[in-house]
Amino acid sequence: MDYAKHIDQMMAGYRNSMILAAACRTGLFAVLEQGGLPAVEVAGRLGLDPRATEIVLNALVAAGLLTLQGGDYVLEPGAAPLLLPDSPDTKASIIGHNATMMKSWIQLPEVLRTGKPAARPERTEQELRDFILGMENVSRASSREVLAKIDLGGARWLLDLGGGPGTAALNFAAAHPGLRCVVFDLPAPIGIAEEQITAAGLGDRVTTAAGDFLTDPLPTPPGGGLFDTIYISNIIHMLDEAQTGALLAKCLPVTAPGGRILLKDFFLEDSGTEPAMAAQFSVNMLVATEGGKSYKRSETVGLLRKAGFTVEEVVDVAVHSQVICARRES
Ligand SMILES: C[S@@+](CC[C@H](N)C(=O)[O-])C[C@H]1O[C@@H](n2cnc3c(N)ncnc32)[C@H](O)[C@@H]1O
Repeated sequence: MDYAKHIDQMMAGYRNSMILAAACRTGLFAVLEQGGLPAVEVAGRLGLDPRATEIVLNALVAAGLLTLQGGDYVLEPGAAPLLLPDSPDTKASIIGHNATMMKSWIQLPEVLRTGKPAARPERTEQELRDFILGMENVSRASSREVLAKIDLGGARWLLDLGGGPGTAALNFAAAHPGLRCVVFDLPAPIGIAEEQITAAGLGDRVTTAAGDFLTDPLPTPPGGGLFDTIYISNIIHMLDEAQTGALLAKCLPVTAPGGRILLKDFFLEDSGTEPAMAAQFSVNMLVATEGGKSYKRSETVGLLRKAGFTVEEVVDVAVHSQVICARRES
């Protein structure tokens, strides 16, 4: 390995992250949606400083997201659907959420000293929307891949536990006309999930329940009965082992005999050091939570077994994720 180059890249990696986030947050990409513009025009339309705007636009050209054509900055057509906030393929919210997270990451030396998460003020409304809609940006691909790779087996009731914007529930319900879903989350995200459900026109089959899965009982399907499937996506990495164990134990009585938990996350191999994305993401949860981390797959299998589930298979899905499928025996 060329360590000098590698270390230089690690050291300066934040620059591109910050340029990307600032461009999203100030509307630099959106203003170029209808066509290329000179820097002074971009600055004028967005109320930005012209010198600063030109410097950042040039860096975006250097990063390959824009081109400079006869004095006009032009959005790269391949990147545009990922960067424009109203595109169905947008990553704008998760980019915004990552920018918010940088305020915690900068405190990593202190987190290392204390073992406590970074000090963080209450999320603003915009930060909450970036977080919750950022989950849509991330879970869009994985939900579709789950549908392609895991047979929901004629499930009739699915609980999307900590479902955020309800991306999984909405994708699953759209693909399975006989399926009804409940999205369970804290009250503020549930408001955002309801917007998404209304926009998708699936309010007759996707409903919501607000609560705290650490302290409240889990819901059961409206009208009674139990869930055939409990979908738990990107939840346990926020929790410590005792909380994860307690949450999985709570799932058992609301899962129908023969029903399944589908538990998706970024899992580590037993070494704890790979895949690299999961090892790095563990640091994200270190700075953000009291006891969260990337779990080892084997550790999670153990927690599911302890909660009374029989682990059947592990399926790779986008992006860098796996789903552990576990059944409640009758
Ligand atoms: C990382 S997001 C995952 C969202 C969604 N499952 C997905 O994969 O797109 C974690 C979700 O858990 C929710 N959450 C966190 N703590 C919770 C709690 N104590 N009770 C209910 N939901 C909670 C958050 O509001 C957020 O929507």
